[in-house]
Amino acid sequence: MSRKLVVLGILFGLVSMIVVGWSTSPLTINAENLASSATYSEQQGYQQFVKQLPQRVSDEVTWKTPFYMGNGGLPRVIRDCGAYITVGELLVQQEKPEMPPLEPRKQIALTFDDGPNNKSTIQILDILQKYDVKATFFVLGQNVVKHPDVVNRMYIEGHEIANHSWGHKNLTKLNPAQMHAEIDRASEAIFEATGHYPTSYRPPYGAIDASVRQEIRLTPVLWNIDTMDWYHKDSLKTLENVQANAKDGGIILMHDIHQQSADALEAVIQYLQQEDYEFITADELNN
Ligand code: NI
Repeated sequence: MSRKLVVLGILFGLVSMIVVGWSTSPLTINAENLASSATYSEQQGYQQFVKQLPQRVSDEVTWKTPFYMGNGGLPRVIRDCGAYITVGELLVQQEKPEMPPLEPRKQIALTFDDGPNNKSTIQILDILQKYDVKATFFVLGQNVVKHPDVVNRMYIEGHEIANHSWGHKNLTKLNPAQMHAEIDRASEAIFEATGHYPTSYRPPYGAIDASVRQEIRLTPVLWNIDTMDWYHKDSLKTLENVQANAKDGGIILMHDIHQQSADALEAVIQYLQQEDYEFITADELNN
């Protein structure tokens, strides 16, 4: 074998290594390396390629899959119109790892009746703030005018303020004019405190009938989990009641005017969060 052939063989080997190494290593495609290596039509192809990518993919695309280099030093995929979308889809897939479909979260509403006052209601607001939980307060008009600042805080912190009448009368025992006096006066007090009218109401004692429904045009919201907190005034019993009855779509009834209810709240929230409940308000419940 002649020396020339040996030298040619070594040269061929070196060139092959460079070419193979280059063509299989990651290549960054951007305006700069296009300007130095692409023909005019390939630059046009690149522009189209970039336009078809999702917006969040920047105009600098790192192509990690090995590919063959074509004329002008650009990957064939860029010159092949049919492949543009495939490239975009591939990039999107790379950004989003496969995840199992999410189960819709269980939802539950915390509702507090008969307030506000300036002690246990404040404690409840502090706890809700600490856990970033939104609740619904069914306030009495006669208490709103005593503590408008507390009602305003509820509003500012994203809670829903709903109507529980002015003075906690049984609406089913009232004539239409009296019903309106009870509900509308409370709505006005809420508006005075927050600048917003309530959209929901809870009739005192849950007492509602066809004539109340017909007269009061707000959305009635009752409850399906009664902690009986007003009756036993026992924080542990309130928690146990929630633990025994919590369910998706649950509306928990508590009373923010009782100290024991405020004292139960932290454990109630911790339990529901641990059970992966999402807290919603009465308004979200209705929509
Ligand atoms: Ni009540």
